[in-house]
Order: sequence, then C-alpha cells, then structure tokens
Amino acid sequence: MRINKYIAGSGLCSRRKADELILNGNVKVNGAVLKEPGYDVQEGDKVTVNGVDLAEQEESVYYLLNKPVGYVTTAKDEQDRATVLDLVPDIGERVFPVGRLDMNTSGALILTNNGKASYRLSHPKHQVFKTYRALVSGVMSKEKLWKLRNGIDIGGYVTKPARVTLLKENKNSTLLEISISEGKNRQVRKMCKAVGNPVQELQRISIGEVRLGRLKEGTYRKLTKDEIEYIKNC
Ligand code: URA
Repeated sequence: MRINKYIAGSGLCSRRKADELILNGNVKVNGAVLKEPGYDVQEGDKVTVNGVDLAEQEESVYYLLNKPVGYVTTAKDEQDRATVLDLVPDIGERVFPVGRLDMNTSGALILTNNGKASYRLSHPKHQVFKTYRALVSGVMSKEKLWKLRNGIDIGGYVTKPARVTLLKENKNSTLLEISISEGKNRQVRKMCKAVGNPVQELQRISIGEVRLGRLKEGTYRKLTKDEIEYIKNC
C-alpha cells in the first residue's frame, strides 16, 4: 500500500497531509527518514510519524448515540450527574462526545476517539450543518422566520444564516426545523428566545450527513462506512 494511503488509513490525517509530512521529513520507515513519497509499505515495515508508531495507534471508532434529556455531555461531571458516557458502558475504546448537547436537549451525538474528526465536525470553518427539531411556544410570524434565517442578535453576537422550516403550528406552539453551521452555547434556544418564542423541547436530528433516523432514544450504533468517509472528508 502506498505510504500516504497507509498513514491516512490510520486515522491520523488526510492523504494530502500525509504527503506533506513525508516531504517535511516527519515520516520514518524502519528507523530511516523516508525520502520517497511514492514508497509502497511492505509487510513488517515499522512506520512512524513524528516518532509515533502507527501500528501502536488505537484504531479510530465512531458511534452515534441518541441522547435522552437528563444527561450531561461531558466525560466526567463535577456534580456527579449522569453523563452520556454512562449510556455506552460496553464500548471498549475510550471515546468522547463531539461537541455538546444541553442536558435538556435530546438526539444525535457522535462519540469517537479520533480528535481530528471531532475538530472537523465542530469547527465552523467546515460548515457542517446540524439540524434540530424545536418545539417553541407561541406562533411564528413571517418576520420572525426571516430573522431566524438571516441572523439575529443572541446577546452580543449575530448568528450566521440558518435554514428554518415551519413544520407544524397551532394556537400555542410551533414546530420548527432549524439547521445551523455554528455551535454557540445554547444557540438554538437563544435564537428562538430572541424572537419571543422560547424552546419547550429540542432534539438534534442530524449532524451533516449523519442522521438519527429510527435509532431508539438511549441507544447507539456504529457509524456506517459512508458516514465515516463523510466525516473524514468534510
Ligand atoms: N442549541 C441549543 O440551544 N442547545 C443544544 O443543545 C444544541 C444547540
């Protein structure tokens, strides 16, 4: 296997970045700095990147959890509240949540041990849209929807354009689907409050192309090959 593919396959970085590492002399094969970017890795080769032996690297794993309300999104809680990791006691690897859902928000949460994937999904520069179903109090005027879509001040910060669809409406409440590419603290709740319609219930239904679908609340599944590929390239 070509060396750049081998390095990328370990989950460390993309093939392009692997080429850069090789050019910069950060890659050694069997103890010698690799000079040949087209090198084919042979069985038994010991490949290191900045001194890290790729064979000893933990394999990357990716899961999707349907978080119920009432769990905090941290690995360990100072107040000893239930955390999302309490819901996945039988995952063998040490995973951590990608981004955050409020304690009272339910839905899609990715768990992984791959820090780079986590960075790509969370960083606004990568424009990964996260989609939420928000049940809000009251009714929505066209003007309010326009504000939610085009940017609204949530206390010293004006939000970036969002996709907002009105799904259902009755006298006292409205169901919205809201997609945002940023992840300011409690952003959806603050956006809805700013137009005078506080959130009653909030559920995240997708993270980019990773969709919650019919995954039961409180359960988790492995991401599919296509979903992992999407994360590596987003
Ligand atoms: N926006 C919120 O307000 N809460 C969440 O948990 C996620 C997005």
